[in-house]
Amino acid sequence: MTGLFIAFEGGDASGKTTQARRTAELLGAVFTREPGGTVVGESLRTLLLGSETSLAFRTEALLMAASRAQLVEELIRPSLEAAKHVVSDRFIASSLVYQGYASGLPVDDVRDLSIFATDGLLPDLTILIDVPVKLSMSRRTTEPDRFESETIEFHERVRSGYLTLAKHALEPWEVVDGSGSPEQVSQLVDDAISKRLGLLLGDARS
Ligand code: TMP
Repeated sequence: MTGLFIAFEGGDASGKTTQARRTAELLGAVFTREPGGTVVGESLRTLLLGSETSLAFRTEALLMAASRAQLVEELIRPSLEAAKHVVSDRFIASSLVYQGYASGLPVDDVRDLSIFATDGLLPDLTILIDVPVKLSMSRRTTEPDRFESETIEFHERVRSGYLTLAKHALEPWEVVDGSGSPEQVSQLVDDAISKRLGLLLGDARS
Protein backbone atom coordinates (compact mmCIF):
# COMPACT_ATOMS: atom_id res chain seq x y z
CA MET A 1 0.00 0.00 0.00
CA THR A 2 1.29 3.46 -0.84
CA GLY A 3 0.37 6.80 0.69
CA LEU A 4 -1.72 9.43 -1.07
CA PHE A 5 -0.20 12.56 -2.55
CA ILE A 6 -2.13 15.85 -2.36
CA ALA A 7 -0.86 19.09 -3.91
CA PHE A 8 -2.23 22.53 -3.01
CA GLU A 9 -2.08 25.20 -5.67
CA GLY A 10 -3.10 28.84 -5.99
CA GLY A 11 -1.88 32.35 -6.64
CA ASP A 12 0.32 34.25 -4.23
CA ALA A 13 -1.39 35.04 -0.90
CA SER A 14 -4.32 32.76 -1.78
CA GLY A 15 -4.21 31.14 1.67
CA LYS A 16 -3.10 27.77 0.25
CA THR A 17 -0.14 27.41 2.65
CA THR A 18 -2.42 27.68 5.69
CA GLN A 19 -4.76 25.08 4.19
CA ALA A 20 -1.95 22.75 3.11
CA ARG A 21 -0.33 22.80 6.56
CA ARG A 22 -3.66 22.17 8.30
CA THR A 23 -4.50 19.27 5.99
CA ALA A 24 -1.09 17.70 6.54
CA GLU A 25 -1.51 18.01 10.29
CA LEU A 26 -4.98 16.42 10.28
CA LEU A 27 -3.84 13.56 8.06
CA GLY A 28 -0.57 13.04 9.91
CA ALA A 29 1.01 13.50 6.48
CA VAL A 30 4.50 14.59 5.49
CA PHE A 31 4.33 18.30 4.64
CA THR A 32 6.58 19.90 2.08
CA ARG A 33 6.76 22.85 -0.30
CA GLU A 34 8.03 23.92 -3.68
CA PRO A 35 10.38 25.28 -4.62
CA GLY A 36 12.23 23.88 -1.61
CA GLY A 37 11.69 20.99 0.77
CA THR A 38 15.27 19.65 0.55
CA VAL A 39 18.67 21.24 1.19
CA VAL A 40 19.22 21.62 -2.56
CA GLY A 41 15.64 22.81 -3.11
CA GLU A 42 15.77 25.42 -0.36
CA SER A 43 18.93 26.94 -1.79
CA LEU A 44 17.31 26.98 -5.23
CA ARG A 45 14.30 28.68 -3.61
CA THR A 46 16.51 31.47 -2.27
CA LEU A 47 17.92 31.98 -5.76
CA LEU A 48 14.52 31.76 -7.48
CA LEU A 49 12.57 34.07 -5.17
CA GLY A 50 15.29 36.65 -4.44
CA SER A 51 14.06 40.02 -5.62
CA GLU A 52 17.62 40.90 -6.75
CA THR A 53 17.85 37.88 -9.08
CA SER A 54 17.41 38.31 -12.83
CA LEU A 55 16.63 34.95 -14.44
CA ALA A 56 15.80 34.00 -18.02
CA PHE A 57 12.42 32.23 -18.17
CA ARG A 58 14.05 28.97 -19.32
CA THR A 59 16.59 29.13 -16.49
CA GLU A 60 13.71 29.67 -14.06
CA ALA A 61 11.78 26.68 -15.46
CA LEU A 62 14.87 24.44 -15.25
CA LEU A 63 15.65 25.45 -11.66
CA MET A 64 12.02 24.85 -10.60
CA ALA A 65 12.23 21.42 -12.24
CA ALA A 66 15.58 20.70 -10.52
CA SER A 67 14.07 21.49 -7.12
CA ARG A 68 11.12 19.23 -7.96
CA ALA A 69 13.35 16.33 -9.08
CA GLN A 70 15.31 16.45 -5.83
CA LEU A 71 12.14 16.66 -3.71
CA VAL A 72 10.51 13.66 -5.42
CA GLU A 73 13.63 11.52 -5.19
CA GLU A 74 14.58 12.46 -1.64
CA LEU A 75 11.25 12.90 0.13
CA ILE A 76 8.00 12.40 -1.78
CA ARG A 77 8.52 8.99 -3.41
CA PRO A 78 10.16 7.36 -0.37
CA SER A 79 7.36 8.68 1.89
CA LEU A 80 4.61 7.38 -0.40
CA GLU A 81 6.37 4.01 -0.68
CA ALA A 82 6.49 3.87 3.14
CA ALA A 83 2.65 4.29 3.06
CA LYS A 84 2.79 7.86 4.38
CA HIS A 85 0.52 10.51 2.89
CA VAL A 86 2.28 13.59 1.48
CA VAL A 87 0.91 17.13 1.22
CA SER A 88 2.85 19.61 -0.90
CA ASP A 89 2.41 23.37 -1.02
CA ARG A 90 2.69 23.64 -4.85
CA PHE A 91 3.81 21.07 -7.44
CA ILE A 92 3.84 20.66 -11.25
CA ALA A 93 0.86 22.93 -11.90
CA SER A 94 2.78 25.91 -10.48
CA SER A 95 5.35 25.55 -13.25
CA LEU A 96 2.68 25.15 -15.94
CA VAL A 97 0.97 28.30 -14.74
CA TYR A 98 3.83 30.63 -13.70
CA GLN A 99 6.45 29.63 -16.31
CA GLY A 100 3.89 28.61 -18.97
CA TYR A 101 0.65 30.61 -18.97
CA ALA A 102 1.96 33.69 -17.13
CA SER A 103 5.53 33.99 -18.47
CA GLY A 104 4.88 32.67 -21.96
CA LEU A 105 6.96 29.47 -22.23
CA PRO A 106 5.18 26.69 -24.18
CA VAL A 107 3.01 24.89 -21.61
CA ASP A 108 3.61 21.47 -23.19
CA ASP A 109 7.40 21.91 -22.94
CA VAL A 110 7.12 22.91 -19.29
CA ARG A 111 4.90 19.87 -18.64
CA ASP A 112 7.41 17.53 -20.34
CA LEU A 113 10.22 19.01 -18.26
CA SER A 114 8.27 18.48 -15.04
CA ILE A 115 7.31 14.92 -15.93
CA PHE A 116 10.99 14.22 -16.58
CA ALA A 117 11.82 15.79 -13.20
CA THR A 118 9.29 13.66 -11.29
CA ASP A 119 9.88 10.51 -13.38
CA GLY A 120 6.15 10.49 -14.04
CA LEU A 121 4.90 11.02 -10.50
CA LEU A 122 1.66 13.06 -10.35
CA PRO A 123 -0.52 14.02 -7.36
CA ASP A 124 -3.54 11.85 -6.50
CA LEU A 125 -5.41 15.10 -5.99
CA THR A 126 -4.64 18.74 -6.76
CA ILE A 127 -6.62 21.31 -4.78
CA LEU A 128 -6.76 24.79 -6.27
CA ILE A 129 -7.50 27.56 -3.78
CA ASP A 130 -9.04 30.11 -6.11
CA VAL A 131 -9.12 33.76 -5.04
CA PRO A 132 -9.73 36.90 -7.14
CA VAL A 133 -6.39 38.65 -7.68
CA LYS A 134 -7.40 41.95 -6.07
CA LEU A 135 -8.51 40.14 -2.91
CA SER A 136 -5.31 38.09 -2.61
CA MET A 137 -3.18 41.19 -3.20
CA SER A 138 -4.99 42.96 -0.37
CA ARG A 139 -4.14 40.02 1.96
CA ARG A 140 -0.36 40.31 1.56
CA THR A 141 1.45 41.02 4.80
CA THR A 142 5.13 40.53 3.87
CA GLU A 143 7.59 42.23 1.54
CA PRO A 144 6.91 41.00 -2.02
CA ASP A 145 9.33 38.42 -3.47
CA ARG A 146 10.31 38.30 -7.16
CA PHE A 147 7.00 36.73 -8.25
CA GLU A 148 4.79 38.77 -5.92
CA SER A 149 6.34 41.92 -7.41
CA GLU A 150 4.93 41.03 -10.84
CA THR A 151 2.14 43.10 -12.43
CA ILE A 152 -1.55 42.54 -11.79
CA GLU A 153 -1.82 41.26 -15.42
CA PHE A 154 0.76 38.57 -14.61
CA HIS A 155 -1.27 37.47 -11.58
CA GLU A 156 -4.48 37.49 -13.65
CA ARG A 157 -2.75 35.13 -16.12
CA VAL A 158 -1.74 32.92 -13.17
CA ARG A 159 -5.35 32.74 -12.01
CA SER A 160 -6.84 32.06 -15.43
CA GLY A 161 -4.05 29.53 -16.17
CA TYR A 162 -4.98 27.58 -13.06
CA LEU A 163 -8.68 27.63 -13.95
CA THR A 164 -7.89 26.41 -17.47
CA LEU A 165 -5.80 23.53 -16.10
CA ALA A 166 -8.51 22.58 -13.62
CA LYS A 167 -11.14 22.57 -16.38
CA HIS A 168 -9.17 20.36 -18.77
CA ALA A 169 -7.24 18.16 -16.33
CA LEU A 170 -7.31 14.43 -16.88
CA GLU A 171 -6.12 13.88 -13.29
CA PRO A 172 -8.29 14.70 -10.24
CA TRP A 173 -8.52 18.44 -9.50
CA GLU A 174 -10.83 20.27 -7.13
CA VAL A 175 -11.37 24.03 -7.25
CA VAL A 176 -12.12 25.52 -3.84
CA ASP A 177 -13.42 29.06 -3.41
CA GLY A 178 -10.72 30.69 -1.27
CA SER A 179 -12.45 34.04 -0.78
CA GLY A 180 -14.14 33.18 2.55
CA SER A 181 -12.68 33.00 6.06
CA PRO A 182 -9.95 30.39 6.74
CA GLU A 183 -12.57 28.25 8.54
CA GLN A 184 -14.97 28.38 5.59
CA VAL A 185 -12.18 27.48 3.18
CA SER A 186 -11.06 24.60 5.45
CA GLN A 187 -14.56 23.16 5.34
CA LEU A 188 -14.53 23.24 1.53
CA VAL A 189 -11.09 21.59 1.48
CA ASP A 190 -12.28 18.84 3.83
CA ASP A 191 -15.30 18.21 1.61
CA ALA A 192 -13.09 18.01 -1.49
CA ILE A 193 -10.70 15.53 0.11
CA SER A 194 -13.53 13.42 1.44
CA LYS A 195 -15.28 13.38 -1.96
CA ARG A 196 -12.17 12.61 -3.99
CA LEU A 197 -10.08 10.42 -1.70
CA GLY A 198 -12.52 9.16 0.92
CA LEU A 199 -10.40 10.66 3.72
CA LEU A 200 -12.51 12.32 6.41
CA LEU A 201 -10.65 15.29 7.84
CA GLY A 202 -13.60 16.74 9.72
CA ASP A 203 -13.97 13.42 11.60
CA ALA A 204 -10.26 13.35 12.34
CA ARG A 205 -10.68 16.65 14.17
CA SER A 206 -13.51 15.59 16.47
P1 TMP B 1 5.15 30.45 -2.30
O1 TMP B 1 5.54 29.04 -2.04
O2 TMP B 1 5.38 31.33 -1.13
O3 TMP B 1 3.81 30.59 -2.90
O4 TMP B 1 6.21 31.06 -3.36
C1 TMP B 1 6.69 30.35 -4.39
C2 TMP B 1 6.70 31.23 -5.62
O5 TMP B 1 7.36 30.52 -6.67
C3 TMP B 1 5.32 31.60 -6.12
O6 TMP B 1 5.28 32.96 -6.48
C4 TMP B 1 5.14 30.75 -7.35
C5 TMP B 1 6.54 30.47 -7.82
N1 TMP B 1 6.69 29.16 -8.46
C6 TMP B 1 6.88 29.10 -9.84
O7 TMP B 1 6.94 30.15 -10.49
N2 TMP B 1 7.00 27.88 -10.43
C7 TMP B 1 6.98 26.70 -9.73
O8 TMP B 1 7.09 25.62 -10.32
C8 TMP B 1 6.79 26.79 -8.30
C9 TMP B 1 6.75 25.53 -7.50
C10 TMP B 1 6.65 28.03 -7.71
